[in-house]
Amino acid sequence: MATPMYNIPGSPMTAPAPAASAAPVSTARTVNAVLAESQVQDVIDELERDLIGLAPVKQRIRDIAALLVIDKLRANLGLQPAAGADKPSLHMCFTGNPGTGKTTVALRMAQILHRLGYVRKGHVVSVTRDDLVGQYIGHTAPKTKEVLKKAMGGVLFIDEAYYLYRPENERDYGQESIEILLQVMENQRDDLVVILAGYKDRMDTFFQSNPGMSSRIAHHIDFPDYAQGELLQIGEKMLAAMNYRFGDGTCEVLADYLARRKQQPHFANARSVRNALDRARLRQASRLYADGDRELTAEDLTTLLPEDLLASRVFNPPPTP
Ligand SMILES: Nc1ncnc2c1ncn2[C@@H]1O[C@H](COP(=O)(O)OP(=O)(O)OP(=O)(O)O)[C@@H](O)[C@H]1O
Ligand SMILES: [Mg+2]
Repeated sequence: MATPMYNIPGSPMTAPAPAASAAPVSTARTVNAVLAESQVQDVIDELERDLIGLAPVKQRIRDIAALLVIDKLRANLGLQPAAGADKPSLHMCFTGNPGTGKTTVALRMAQILHRLGYVRKGHVVSVTRDDLVGQYIGHTAPKTKEVLKKAMGGVLFIDEAYYLYRPENERDYGQESIEILLQVMENQRDDLVVILAGYKDRMDTFFQSNPGMSSRIAHHIDFPDYAQGELLQIGEKMLAAMNYRFGDGTCEVLADYLARRKQQPHFANARSVRNALDRARLRQASRLYADGDRELTAEDLTTLLPEDLLASRVFNPPPTP
């Protein structure tokens, strides 16, 4: 099932539609007037504040926002280009390893596009191959069209997009889905932005075999792996958001944990940090639960101790048989 992912909880996307998309005609003549009118600066500031690292990604997003703001000022002075070429193509490709923030940034991107009036609704519909491609003849076109209908007015986020194309099987239905996507990406690009996401090397191979797709992607944004220090900062941010904190020495243990975890299969950057903290919270709860008669202070209830992480299998690998 396609999962419509609306806004990030707590973000101001739930606020009433901003003036920019509601008012078709604007008198703004300065960049700051457009920023004030569209409230887009809030989203950009939030992105800067909430997301650790990702400097090149943030720069690209600021560039795209600048393009859209200038486009608005041009439109306000009646400087639209010839009919048919009236909106820049904004389909994007986000490449990077798991847990590097691609989905998170796609949600923010959708908010920016919405606030600047590029798309009507600004929601994100996140899908994979199985949501688009059918198992039997005749099933693919209706499936793909249904997904496109849901995504219209927002962003269609296709995770691991290269699975749409299976070169080993020349009758694969994925090709049919790609063709429908290509058409809509061209003809309805004023109301739908498609973001393809996945590993860089596989995406490159996919584009080599699908030049039509490659030529419709205007922005390629690469998400680097996080450095150790960034992962720790992400951990602190996640904990603070859940109203927990590190006790004495816990942050150092998390650093050790991450260094070890990285050597193991399926390391997933920020996602692995989140998983580690979730499990540490479980152990903290069991630790406190075992002490049935003790009065628990706010400090007890919010503090993760080194032992809550040290019990992980990463530190205690099971004996090899
Ligand atoms: N730069 C960051 N700062 C703070 N938190 C982050 C950052 N990047 C990712 N996260 C958090 O890490 C988790 C994983 O991020 P996200 O789902 O966006 O990654 P992804 O690249 O889409 O991963 P996948 O490829 O596994 O789908 C989320 O909980 C997100 O909030
Ligand atoms: Mg994701």
